[in-house]
Amino acid sequence: METNKTFTMIKPDAVANGHIGAILDHITKGGFKITALKYTYLSPEKAGEFYAVHKERPFYADLVKFMSSGPIVAAILEKENAVADFRTLIGATDPSKAEAGTIRALFAKSIDANAVHGSDSDENAAIEGSFFFSAFEKF
Ligand code: CMP
Repeated sequence: METNKTFTMIKPDAVANGHIGAILDHITKGGFKITALKYTYLSPEKAGEFYAVHKERPFYADLVKFMSSGPIVAAILEKENAVADFRTLIGATDPSKAEAGTIRALFAKSIDANAVHGSDSDENAAIEGSFFFSAFEKF
């Protein structure tokens, strides 16, 4: 299992608010190399599939609705200790609890519209990266 990759999405709120460039800048300045990148859209079916792990959670329906409300940017990122370091860079899931200077503290408005997703384990990073990218799209 690779320990130097993670997966991220810039969510519909951050895309709609014009933050793609600023967020990618934070990511690269944080020491991450972008090894795959895609500007795309999740249908409700695809969003439901991506977040299937949360199917039983009370926020699942709202999460699927929100994640299919507009385009997103998907990316695979490379750095030593990528999963943990990226979660530090983005801050807590709830932006009101995110440390100052983190991506969510800077760009997120609420726990639903929280600007970015970051994988929570090496295993999920691999699964989520392959959800969006074929072998020919990973560099
Ligand atoms: P993300 O890291 O993309 O993973 C699941 C998402 O569910 C999470 O970010 C939040 O945007 C959203 N969510 C909404 N409510 C909650 C909650 N109570 N706990 C965790 N995630 C939540």
